[in-house]
Amino acid sequence: MTSIQAPVEQKVDNHGLSDEIRRFIEQKGGWTSFEQYMQMALYSPGRGYYTGGLAKFGAAGDFITAPELGNLFALSLAIQVAEILNKLDHGALLEFGAGSGALAAGLLNELEVLGALPETYLIQELRGDLRARQRETINEGARKHFARVVWLDALPANFCGVVIANEVLDAMPVRVFEEQASGSVMEMGVGISDTSPGTDEPTFCWAHREADPVLASAVHALNLQIDGQSYRSEIAFQALAWIQSLAQVLEQGAVLLIDYGFRQAEYYHPDRDQGTLMCHYQHRAHADPFFKPGQQDITAHIDFTAIALAAKHAGFGLAGYATQGAFLLSTGVLDRIPLDAPVKQQLELAQQLKKLTLPHEMGELFKVLALSKDYAFELSGFAQQNHLNRL
Ligand SMILES: C[S@@+](CC[C@H](N)C(=O)[O-])C[C@H]1O[C@@H](n2cnc3c(N)ncnc32)[C@H](O)[C@@H]1O
Repeated sequence: MTSIQAPVEQKVDNHGLSDEIRRFIEQKGGWTSFEQYMQMALYSPGRGYYTGGLAKFGAAGDFITAPELGNLFALSLAIQVAEILNKLDHGALLEFGAGSGALAAGLLNELEVLGALPETYLIQELRGDLRARQRETINEGARKHFARVVWLDALPANFCGVVIANEVLDAMPVRVFEEQASGSVMEMGVGISDTSPGTDEPTFCWAHREADPVLASAVHALNLQIDGQSYRSEIAFQALAWIQSLAQVLEQGAVLLIDYGFRQAEYYHPDRDQGTLMCHYQHRAHADPFFKPGQQDITAHIDFTAIALAAKHAGFGLAGYATQGAFLLSTGVLDRIPLDAPVKQQLELAQQLKKLTLPHEMGELFKVLALSKDYAFELSGFAQQNHLNRL
């Protein structure tokens, strides 16, 4: 999910989402939190980025995630998943935000090869159009396992097995704050500006107000090193609440959270004083969340320290934290490139390997955080690197 350039043109059609957001902001007296704006821009029923039927993933969409690069990511992840499932008496898989369904198809096929095929593969997806795409991908790529896949309408109770969320946390709406040099904290929200030149579309702008006590005390707890200047960043309250709800779901097993982000000291580093919000539109990354609401992805990096603390607080054990590159190498990703395969296939796998593991690609920025419940075994994905003590 990268490639930094400015977005090119202004909007044409967002199915009325801008009007919906504008009306909402007007009803709220001219201001709403960025969290609410992001919620609507990504998930407004039928109109949001993830709920409005756009291509999103892959070459025809806006960004490429690890499972979309090819099969190598699923092949390696399957090693870790199989290890956990084999240690449990019975266990299933639960994938959140399964995207195009590529990871599910790849995992099901490889888990069969590894003799660890679970009876059910649960998918928790927020809205309908992605479910249809996942059905299609799994039916095409893992047809004989299709009957094992169950799309959930609500979170299961007493789940036992492995939970996977690849690039899901970064798609959860965040609150944006600005701490002033004086120490006062503002919440950066969204207001309405004039219509775009040449169109009737309302446009949105940053608008601040004094932070409420919850946000203000969370920001003060970060103890930011502000050197006479203001500092802007985000806090992912929704992601923290999601971790708590996950703790209610998982009775036994592990959670693998894979996403881009940093430990807290790096996340709120003095140099990162504009936060980590990032938008993706047709393979261009930029920083304007008000460009084409509903047609571009909006994300924030993950503060893995905050996620780990929330997890611990909710009753999870912390089982491992490593860069994606180190995690995949520990699961034996290098062995997944057969030396007797045709050269073309080897080259293609080598390309995937580079993208997934090299430090300047996804290898370093992406991390894997593993949580556990009633599961005391070491995870082989962290054999080469486990940086839990640095969180
Ligand atoms: C960047 S996409 C990643 C998709 C896929 N995991 C992949 O790697 O290609 C983010 C996904 O997370 C989903 N998502 C966000 N919040 C979610 C939640 N609370 N429960 C389930 N899915 C969620 C979105 O609907 C979207 O499908």
